[in-house]
This record gives sequence, C-alpha cells and structure tokens, in this order.
Amino acid sequence: MQFGHFDDQAREYVITTPHTPYPWINYLGTQDFFGLISHTGGGYSFYRDAKLRRLTRYRYNNVPVDDGGRYFSINDGGDVWSPGFRPYKTELDRFETRHGMGYTRITGERNGLEASVLFFVPVDTNAEIHQVTLTNTSDQDKSVSLFSFLEFCLWNAEDDQTNYQRNLSIGEVEVEDGAIYHKTEYRERRDHYAVYGVNAPIAGFDTDRDTFLGFGNGFDEAAVPHAATSGDSIASGWYPIASHHLKADLEPGETATYTFVLGYLENDRDDKWEAPGAINKAGARALLDRFATNEAADAAFAELNEYWDGLLGSYTVTSGDEKLDRSVNIWNQYQCMVTYNMSRSASYFETGMGRGMGFRDSSQDLLGFVHLVPERARERIIDIASTQFEDGSAYHQYQPLTKRGNHTLGSGFNDDPLWLILGVAAYVKETGDFGILDEMVPFDNDESKAATLMEHLRRSFNHPLVKAGPHGLPLIGRADWNDCLNLNCFSTEPGESFQTTGNKTGGVAESIFIAGMFCAIGPEYAALARRRGDDAEADRAEKAVADMRAAVTEHGWDGEWFLRAYDYYGNKVGTHETQDGQIWIEPQGYCVMGGVGVEDGKAVQALDSVRERLNTPHGIVLLNPAYTEYHVELGEVTSYPPGYKENAGIFCHNNPWVIIAETVVGRSEYAWEYWKQIAPAYREEISEVHRTEPYVYAQMIAGKDAARHGEAKNSWLTGTASWNFVAVSQHLLGVRPGYDGLIVDPCIGAEISEYTVRRQIRGATYVITVSNSGGKGASLTVDGQPIDGNEVPYAAPGATVEITATV
Ligand code: GLC
Ligand code: GLC
Repeated sequence: MQFGHFDDQAREYVITTPHTPYPWINYLGTQDFFGLISHTGGGYSFYRDAKLRRLTRYRYNNVPVDDGGRYFSINDGGDVWSPGFRPYKTELDRFETRHGMGYTRITGERNGLEASVLFFVPVDTNAEIHQVTLTNTSDQDKSVSLFSFLEFCLWNAEDDQTNYQRNLSIGEVEVEDGAIYHKTEYRERRDHYAVYGVNAPIAGFDTDRDTFLGFGNGFDEAAVPHAATSGDSIASGWYPIASHHLKADLEPGETATYTFVLGYLENDRDDKWEAPGAINKAGARALLDRFATNEAADAAFAELNEYWDGLLGSYTVTSGDEKLDRSVNIWNQYQCMVTYNMSRSASYFETGMGRGMGFRDSSQDLLGFVHLVPERARERIIDIASTQFEDGSAYHQYQPLTKRGNHTLGSGFNDDPLWLILGVAAYVKETGDFGILDEMVPFDNDESKAATLMEHLRRSFNHPLVKAGPHGLPLIGRADWNDCLNLNCFSTEPGESFQTTGNKTGGVAESIFIAGMFCAIGPEYAALARRRGDDAEADRAEKAVADMRAAVTEHGWDGEWFLRAYDYYGNKVGTHETQDGQIWIEPQGYCVMGGVGVEDGKAVQALDSVRERLNTPHGIVLLNPAYTEYHVELGEVTSYPPGYKENAGIFCHNNPWVIIAETVVGRSEYAWEYWKQIAPAYREEISEVHRTEPYVYAQMIAGKDAARHGEAKNSWLTGTASWNFVAVSQHLLGVRPGYDGLIVDPCIGAEISEYTVRRQIRGATYVITVSNSGGKGASLTVDGQPIDGNEVPYAAPGATVEITATV
C-alpha cells in the first residue's frame, strides 16, 4: 500500500494523505541552519547544534505523536483548519505534501480555499523561509484570517525540557514592525537571538503561548485562530511563541502570497544593544529587507534548486528502471548529504540532545558524500583525525561545536582507526589531492603533538597489529562496528552503559570482523604509501595484510562461514557449536571484501551460508538464530528482543557489505536482489508494513524473529545511506574512482540490460554506456578505442570521455 508517489522530474516525494503510518519527514538546510519538517508540518529548527542552539521547541515521544511545529491556521468564515491537516485535523478536500531537495511544500484545500506553504532554507542563509500562498478557488469573495505559529525553545534543548524552576521565568521577546524577536538569555551571556517576521502588514500578533492557545488547550484548540483575533500579547516568562495575524480579502481566483522569515542572528558582544534592553536588530532588519518581496524568496528558492542540480550532477544513471534511477540520482545521494550534515544527532528517532559525531560514523559517511562537496569532506577528515590518540586509537565521538573528543565515552572501540584510512582513501581517489596526506594534524587536539595525516594513517594501520590477541587477530576492545558486541564488559546492573562499564581487562577477545576490515582497508594504506614512493612501508603493509588473511583462514573459519569473534574466555562467537548466534553477517561481508577465501572457495561458501541462514525477503538479518536470553559475556546484542536491532534485526548498514562481497565473487544476480530488498524505492508498495519514509533508508528493519518482521525504524541518519550508495554506484553499476583512473567494473543483475552513467570527477565528464548480460568482467572502449583492463586514466579537466563497457 502506498501513501503517495515519487515525482522524479521535480525530485520530490508526493504524500497525498496526512494518514501515513508514521510522520514522514524532510530536512531543510545545507550548511549551518537546519530544520526538520514532517508531512503535516511538525518539527523544529536549529542553528548548527540541535542541542545547544535550538530555535523552536519540539516534544519527542509525545501524545499525540508529532505535535508541535510550524503551524499555519486559517479561519475562513469561522471554519478553522490548517493546510498540513495538523494540528486541527479538520478534514481537507485535498492534501498534498511534496518533500524535495532541502524544501517541503504543504498544500491543503478546503471549501474553495487553497493554502500552500513552501518551507526552505536559502543557500548560505541562517534563516528559514515559509512562503504561504492562499488562493480562492471558489466563485465567492472570501475574507480569511491567516495565523502563523511557532513556539520558541529556550536555546538549550535539554535544559528546555528539564529545568522549569528557572526556565518559566526567563522567557523574553520584543516586537517591532510586526517582527517578533526571541531574546531569552540575551540579557546575560547569549549574543544571539531569533526573529520571525513577515513581508506584509499584520492585523495582530501573539508571543505568549497561553494567550494564543488559551490555558490548558492543545494546539488543536488554539483560542486565537478560533476567535480570529490576536491578543497582541507580550510574553514575560512562561512560554514565548511567535504568531502573526494576517487578513486577506480574495476575489474568486485571486491569490495572495506572504513570505515569513525565521532567522538566527548573532551580534558582537560589545554591540549587543541599540537601546537599554533593546536588541541591536540591524542584522535582523537586513535579513527581513532581503526578503521584503515574494520575488526575492522565489529567487532564493530557484538558487536552492540550482545548488542541488550542481550537487547531484556528479553521478547520474539512466537505466530504464525508474526505481534504480531515482534511488541513485536523487534520494540516496540526498540522504548521504543529510546524514553527513546531521551525523546521528537530529531525526525523529534521535533527539538532537544525545550523541556527538562518531569517529567511525563520520568516516563512513564520507564515502557517500565525498563526491558531492569534496572541500567539506577534506575539512571533516582533518577534524576527525585531530581526535585520534598517538597510539592510533581514537575518541569514539567528538562534539561538533567544539570539535573535541568526548571524554565520557573515551576510546577503545578497536575498529575506529581503520575507518579513517577508508575515508581518506575515498577522498584522495575522488580528488587526486595527495597533498592532504602532508597536512599537519594534531593528536587529541593538541597542536604540540601534530604529525602528518599520513602518519595518522600509519598509526591507524598499526593499531590492530599492536592490539592483537592470542590468534594474531585484532582485539575487539569495547566493541567493533557492532556497538552491541561487548566482550569485555559483563554488565549486570540496569542502566549501566554496555560499552563503557568494562570490568574485565581484556587481552583475549578478538574480532574477526576487524580482521576482515584490515584485509580490505589495509591495501588502501599500502597503495597510498606506494604512491608516495615509500616502497618499504608499502611492502610491510602488504605483508601484514597477507598475514592477516592467513590468520583469518586459520583461526577465523567455522567450517561453512567466518566466525564472528573470540570472547573474553577465548570461546568462539558465531559458530555452529553454540545454540544461538551461530552465524553473523559482518565478517561474511567484510572478510570477502578483504579477499579472504576468494581463491579457495571459502568466500562463496560463506555467502551461500548467508543466503541460506540470514536472508529474508525484507533483507539480510544480522545474525541467526537470534539470542533468546541475555548473555553477560556478549553484552548489549543479547539485550534486545529477538529480531530487533543488533539481535537479528535487518541492520541495513551491513547489507551492502554482502552486496559488495557478492560482486567480488561475481554473483551479480544475488548482489542485485539483495540491494533491491532493502532499497526504499522498491519497498514503497509495502509502505504499510515498512512504515517509515519510502524515500530514505532506515537503520533497521525488524528481522524474521520479530513479530513485526519487515517494519522499519530509525530512518534517515544511518551509515546505510553511504554504504548503499557505494554498493550501487561503485559495485553494481560499477563506476568507481581509482587513484589513477576511473574504474568501470559493472556487476549487476541481467534485468538491467543497458544503462548509461554520467560521472563528473576531477573536472572531466565520463559518459559510460554499459551493455549488460549479468555476471562480471567488462571489455571497455574509450573514445572508440579498446583498452586493456578496467581503469580509464583520468582525463584533463574540461574533457568529456566516452566509454563503452560490454559485460
Ligand atoms: C549505530 C551506530 C554505529 C554502529 C551501529 C552498529 O548505527 O551509529 O556506529 O556501528 O549502530 O552497532
Ligand atoms: C545502542 C544501539 C546501537 C547504537 C548505540 C549507540 O547500542 O543498539 O545501534 O550504535 O546504541 O550508542
């Protein structure tokens, strides 16, 4: 069942009913000012940091769900409704929400009045535009009242939800020329304020929530819109809000458009006031002036669309399969951008108050982002590497505002160091910027301890070798990629952190997954060293990788698949010898990606075991059989009910590792099938089962042991976005950057018989036409001439290169 459809021409998902199975959201903003917005207008805005600079209030886990947002209310002759359906839930004659690239347009129509609101953040602007268009579609004159509404958050979102003894006394606003200024805490240490204005004369305003809603009322019972008169209230403590009242007289067919602007402004500390107690509003006035006309907002919207044209132009495919095309060309890349911007901070499942930037998460997010804005990827690499320790380990997380490592969580997640190598390799291949390797980068943010980025990578590479266990395999530490496999923790108290309450010394528990990573990512390090002329280091690295492959073959094989780990006692994890958790997905994918068992048949055997034991029509589960009891020696993974999250859920992040592994062994049909199983566009028809947005990946789909098998959770912010983009663009469609040239190596199901990829990289454009018969191994021509191998040397900037590939 569907609740809308894709409009690929407009790059939009069109939701045609407010009654989706879950709030279906979108993101506004690309750089510093961001908003989350659901299809019924719920959500909130923030500047840079969703915890520390929250502009508007949102209540997570609320009843009713998704209450609170940017609401426009209409009073048409006493009939009160909202174009987004919520909060009034007045039935609409037509409802439509279009989520596009960085914007959302919500349209409602009732009794011959159409109200459409376009929400977006202009490029390079710290403000959100809400452009409202009212159209009289009836044959009668209409006099209607329009009310805007949003509720301010007192900046620190966590404090805002907890510290009422203080907060209910500190709210302050100013109103000038119809613009509403939020200035709570501006009198003391804050040098920033928010403004909400509109480019038309207002009939009234409100800034006090109790006046606007009426004490004790819900958003759906708001008093002011029902009375069609504002209270002109000035908040003093309690709950500051912003609402404008506009009156429109519309003849049949007539339209009125209003541009509202919600802005974030900062002042110099010594230039904060223009009169005692009055904010210096020069910045806000300039912002409102800039959008004094509707045309200015239209132009900013056009600029936003051009911005996205440019971004999405660097990788496009035309295949004849519209689901494949829209995934690759539009939504997967869009999600990569959003995930890169938000990390794991703010979604409808992440409150914006929790986690910082993950060392491993951000390194992997780079993979799907680096081709979009390489300069920003470069900055991010330096930020991440600066939180590494001298021994190659790393803070597991760092805070985006300070860029400092997070002490509470600390380090000891032994997969972290290797992801940095992978991110840097992707950046260098994309850009050819080998110079980044010579950048001086601090350890632990201490400039006195700076070394070249290449030296950071050397320490990353050495980390699993130094921290090796009894079988010569890397020690796992607190956890590896699977945060929930906690082999040195043994947590018995409710509420303890599974990751940091380690009470065992360790030194035995080894991860075959990290070993697989080392085999797959180590060669990238060797290649970088070789290109820098350091043959001795490259040789050393290649030998270490060969040794690791041998160690995995000897100690990491269970007979039909790769083991997952050795635990604290040296017992095997992921073996047919135990009752539960016999086979785990992660090492099957990554060891094969690392070339283990490709020659002796173990790779294919491992992947056959995945197919037999882990695969389902909704995706590949993380492990099987699911754990039915808590195992103190395994940790959080066994804390989840069977089929959810890491305990045998379909954890979409690691499905692409199996997809890529299948392309390593040349099984294009399986790779293609696995990709389609979890790709949102292919799951659109079962939206009532899947429940979250059909245009973006979710972190998890409930596995076969769960009552709600096939139901997704935790949509938007997940490494799934970048890994699936890597899988489909680089391995199925097979166009991936190498160090010296563009590699064309398709391996996609025969269903896709012919396709063209346009790839812009390093200033040149490559048009690659593929005729496919399934399988793997293409013969190439470049500008009509056959070439050996599958790597097309990079052309000069400005060139267009025509490539054909026949599989
Ligand atoms: C979450 C974390 C990620 C981790 C994964 C598996 O998505 O953000 O770092 O690898 O869970 O546990
Ligand atoms: C929990 C989740 C895991 C996530 C971690 C982040 O362990 O199960 O997916 O990565 O929290 O701290």
